[in-house]
Formats: sequence, structure tokens, C-alpha cells
Amino acid sequence: MKRVISLPASGSLSGEIVVPADKSIVHRSVMFNSLAKGNARVSVPILGRDNLATIRIMRQLGVGIDVQVPQALGEIASAELAGDVTSSDTHECVLKISGAGIAGLKPPTDNLDCGNSGTTARLMCGVLAGTDFSSTLDGDASLRKRPFGRVTLPLSKMGAKFSGERLPLSVEGSELSALDYVSPIASAQVKSAILLAGLRANGTVSVREPFLSRDHTERMLRAMGVDIKQRLLPSGEWLSTLEPLKPGQELRAIDLKVPSDISQAGFFLVAALLTPGSQVLIKNICFNPTRSGLFHVLRRMGAVIEVSHERVLGGEDVVDLTVETSALRGVNVDPGEVVSCVDEIPILCVAAAAAKGTTRIDGIGELRVKESDRVAMIESLLRRFGVKVSSGIQHIEVDGVGALTGLQPSASAEQDWAHCGDHRILMSAAVLNLVCCGEAEVVDLAAIETSFPNFLDCFQELGCELQSTED
Ligand code: S3P
Repeated sequence: MKRVISLPASGSLSGEIVVPADKSIVHRSVMFNSLAKGNARVSVPILGRDNLATIRIMRQLGVGIDVQVPQALGEIASAELAGDVTSSDTHECVLKISGAGIAGLKPPTDNLDCGNSGTTARLMCGVLAGTDFSSTLDGDASLRKRPFGRVTLPLSKMGAKFSGERLPLSVEGSELSALDYVSPIASAQVKSAILLAGLRANGTVSVREPFLSRDHTERMLRAMGVDIKQRLLPSGEWLSTLEPLKPGQELRAIDLKVPSDISQAGFFLVAALLTPGSQVLIKNICFNPTRSGLFHVLRRMGAVIEVSHERVLGGEDVVDLTVETSALRGVNVDPGEVVSCVDEIPILCVAAAAAKGTTRIDGIGELRVKESDRVAMIESLLRRFGVKVSSGIQHIEVDGVGALTGLQPSASAEQDWAHCGDHRILMSAAVLNLVCCGEAEVVDLAAIETSFPNFLDCFQELGCELQSTED
């Protein structure tokens, strides 16, 4: 099936949209409530395949999770969860989780397939390390190439036993001891894996990181009754410290309404900023300070984005964002800021291409080991439109051309990004093509569904036309 979206006749985007649930918070709410004692109800705007992988795995480990999804998501959810799903007329997904308790997971009869989801696999390393059974984590071809030494090495220091440093990875449940870990990278996946293992350790675990990575794990575990602290050290590093559960202590199950994901909002913030005459309202966005970097960088570039309806939902700051077309200028982005918008760097580079002047982003080494080498992919994507880009191991520099409207892609340029299977690169490419040419062919919708099954619907809600034809 070939799908092409095109700008409305007015040439501008207008209206309001709801983007999918914050993926990081959904993973955690499913895992942590599965390990809690009691029942929890988690309601979620649309979710993608990555979150369904976490639900599937917790079910394989014996946790009862009832899944109700809107009709539009029914097919994807049934395929991912092997059938056991209710679809309804609601606009949200409802997950009813019957927690198994901290020691209540059951040995799985099959490998645990994390699909494309690095967060599922890395956090599960921490969950499985302290069980009393063996299990094997696996994933798709992209996940099998990604590094796991970053979690297996610190967890092994606690006594965990792994078969290697790549998927498929066998985990032999073991008794775990205390750990004081200095992480060379600011990674919420690494930090969370260690903290989760720490729940069952025989002493305090602490993780020091060079910048504060997203702190949903700390917030949610604290709400579930865990003694967990975060503090800024005089050195500028951040320290998270967790006390293990006491004998007989269980995590408290919590009901949650999960807000939407700023990394998904980012595609529409940038599309509206760069499309003349646009105004778009994106509702209910998680605005946790460890996640709001894209907003701050875009504002520094000159973006007009208004924040309204500020509130707290499930322990997280939540806002509505209204964006309008704006002229942008190039800026410098430092490594600390990159941590707070690590998944949004590809779409930020699209904004940088449309800005006046150069944008330099430092501290992007982690982007080279995501679902693809995102630095290489974004370079290839922008070069296709004649934008000058250069990069090193830790930085990228984009020479903005001032405005993208009317730029045509060179036919001969390599299109390796189109086959990379990386959802964030494919959505950034769709926005870039739409802004430059007025239309975009959406290649590999299945990959986009990893995180954003209603990506095309959102464009339609903003007035775009969608044409679907057989190839
Ligand atoms: C995530 C952390 C980030 C991010 C990923 C989700 C999480 O990875 O890129 O999409 O939910 O913990 P790192 O913290 O390893 O950079």
C-alpha cells in the first residue's frame, strides 16, 4: 500500500490533535504495576507496538493484564498480543493490571520478544536479574544489534548472570547485592535497570550520572512506596539512591492516567512551525523537566509556542501546547540539553535546516546506537534536499537554509534512511518532505506504528489529505 499525505489547499496546518501516550511512562506503569500487589487501572491515549511488547512480556510472565483499545488500534493490538484484546468505541486504551507481587512472576515457557523496544529489553534485564528462574530476552534485527553491556555490566556487579552483551540474552535469576555505580552516560534505561534490580537487592543501590536523564522511574516507584531519592551533587552529576524493599514489603499498585508524549508532539510542533500560516493545539503533553528540552530549544530558535492549562497528572507535569508558524534562527545545543530531548534530535535537525544560520548540537553520541545510527540517517536525509550538514562522533552541525518551502529532493541521492526501519527517522522524513514539497510519501508505516499508530490520522485532523493506493 502506498500512502501519500499532502498539505491542504490553504497550504497551512490548523486544528487540534492528541498524540500517543508517553511511551516511557506506559512501559513503567505496566512493568511496575505488574510487580506490585493489587489491581491497577492505567488509561492511556493511543499506544504503539513498543508498549504492546511490554504488555505481552508481562503476560508471558504470568501477570493478568486486560487490554481494551479503540477500534482503530484493534488489529495492531490483537496481532502483537496474540488475540486477547477487547476493542471498543472509546478514544483511549484501558489496561487493567492484576499485580503479581515483587516475587510473583512465573517462569516463561518461551523467549521474551521485545520487538523493537530497547526500553522493554533493558528495563527487563533489571526486573529478571533478581527472580528465581531463568529466561531469555530477544528482539528484532535492529534490537539484536544494540549494546546491552551498558546494563549487563553494572547488573553483573550486583551478582546478576547474563549470557552475553547482545540479544538474545539469557538471564539466570540470582541473589543481588548492593551497588554504587558511576554511569559514564546519562541513560534512563541504564539507571532504571539498576534501580529495578535494587528493589530485591540486599543493600542500597545508587546510580550517579553526568546529567539527569528522564526520572519517571524514580517518580513512579516513589508513588508506589519505595524509598528513593535524587539529588544534584556539587560536581554537577546527579545521584539516584534506592533502598530495597523490606521483607514482606510490596510495591503499591497505582491507577494512572498517562499523558501524551512530547517526542511525538515534536513532529507536529516542527511541521506547524515550518508550514506558512499554521496554528496547531496539541493537548495533554507530559512536560516533565527532564523531557521538555525540545520546547526550550525551539523557543530559543524563535518558535512561538504557548504553554497553557498547566496541571499535574499521575505525578507528572502536563500542559497543552499551541504552536504557530515562526521564523527560526540557528542555536547551539549542549550535551545536558540533549539528554532532555534525546529522541527529538532528528526532528530538531529538520527545524535547524529551516532556520537562518547554523545549529550545532553537542553530546549526541548516544544517537548512533538507537534504532539506527540516527546521526548518519539525518545527514543523509537533509543532504538529499541540498542542506549542508557535518558531524563528528559527538556532534552534528546543520547549516540552515532559512526556509524549506519549495526545496526539491535530488533524485540521485541515496535514500538509505527510507529502509532503516527507524520510526523517528521515518516520521522526520515525512515532515521534511511535506514542508518542502507539499506532500510526502509515507514509507514503512509498520515501522511508524512502533510508537505512533495514528501519525497519519493526526495530519488528516490538521486538514491534510491522505491518499492510499495499492503499489
Ligand atoms: C528511554 C530512555 C532513552 C530514550 C528511549 C526511552 C526510557 O534512552 O532514548 O527512547 O524510557 O528510559 P536512554 O536513556 O538509554 O538514552
